[in-house]
Amino acid sequence: MPTSPILQPVTIGDLTLKNRVVMAPLTRSRSNNEGVPPDFAADYYGQRSNAGLIISEATNISPQGVGYAYTPGIWSEAQVESWSRIVKTIHANDGLIFLQLWHTGRISHPELQPGGELPVSASAIKPEGTAFTQDGMKPHVTPRALETDEIPGIVEDYRRAAENAKRAGFDGVEIHSANNYLLEQFVRDSTNRRTDRYGGSIENRLRFPLEVVRAVTEVWGGGARVGIRLSPATTQPGETPLDSDPHATYGAYVDALNGFGLLYVHTIEGVTQQTRDVPDGVDFLDLRRRFTGAYIGNNQLTLDLAEKELAEGRADLFSFGRPYIANPDLVGRLASGAPLAEAPKPYWYGGGTNGYSDWPGMNGPVAVRR
Ligand SMILES: Cc1cc2nc3c(=O)[nH]c(=O)nc-3n(C[C@H](O)[C@H](O)[C@H](O)COP(=O)(O)O)c2cc1C
Repeated sequence: MPTSPILQPVTIGDLTLKNRVVMAPLTRSRSNNEGVPPDFAADYYGQRSNAGLIISEATNISPQGVGYAYTPGIWSEAQVESWSRIVKTIHANDGLIFLQLWHTGRISHPELQPGGELPVSASAIKPEGTAFTQDGMKPHVTPRALETDEIPGIVEDYRRAAENAKRAGFDGVEIHSANNYLLEQFVRDSTNRRTDRYGGSIENRLRFPLEVVRAVTEVWGGGARVGIRLSPATTQPGETPLDSDPHATYGAYVDALNGFGLLYVHTIEGVTQQTRDVPDGVDFLDLRRRFTGAYIGNNQLTLDLAEKELAEGRADLFSFGRPYIANPDLVGRLASGAPLAEAPKPYWYGGGTNGYSDWPGMNGPVAVRR
């Protein structure tokens, strides 16, 4: 059986990846109340170092960025120390890992915020749905719109987080500008009704995300080790499109990102975890062609689909999320055609090693070098 081109080495920028498989960022909510990832996270990530590139679970840049219980951060020394042990394990297993930088904005709850404050957003618009707090699920609240003069402070939080990621030894960082978290709340016209220089025109709505990109690329000496995640077609939370003209908005976003020499753009094609169908008005191939760096495709991919997308020039790398939960040796299974295990949902968020770092490979436990 010839080896699939997806499973062969590839060079993007100055990085040589073992294969074109990327482990998608997966929040697993195993950190402690101080946002410190557990020691056994090194086993979990180490077992998955068969991916050409791992993107870490979304990691809060500041206490204000927190929107889910038990998620990790990258603002304190204890967090940096724990992450550096995880990164060392991945490197000992010939893996590469980027840290995903996260601020959840309005997708949070006062119980998760310092001093029980309201979560912040571009505008005071309540999201649908519930927040995952230490006390269970709680309905979202109406956030507080950030004052214009607060925004530079959040850009500085991103800068510090990017510096801490560098100190922890990460190979790069991915800016989370997808799934309706803070950056996307500024990008979309349904969640950004501001009248200052951060709202209104597309150029204004992109201003804050691009300030973040500038700060992060300054820390990393340019864009060569910086990627960004976008979800132009998502409707979550809720059912209605989040932008009145997503292609104009995201076309302008991608064009502006070209000014920073980013390593890649990582897109969620269709609606996360639901469908690869793309609504009218969003054209992923056009975005891919306009972007000058590499392109990571994602959402409900299989090896066959990835091969087809590669052959058609639709993406360079392919990220797998849910399949990595219960298949630590995903690349081996894809290579051999072995069936994939499925992780029951109760294991996704919260708990300890069970359903997290104890999934066997197809040939028994997956060894991790230390
Ligand atoms: C348990 C779980 C946690 C996730 N956490 C994140 C996250 O931290 N950051 C992110 O950008 N996407 C996150 N996602 C979305 C995935 O990265 C991915 O886009 C989605 O699962 C679709 O890909 P898949 O069909 O290969 O699973 C998460 C998805 C799941 C199922």
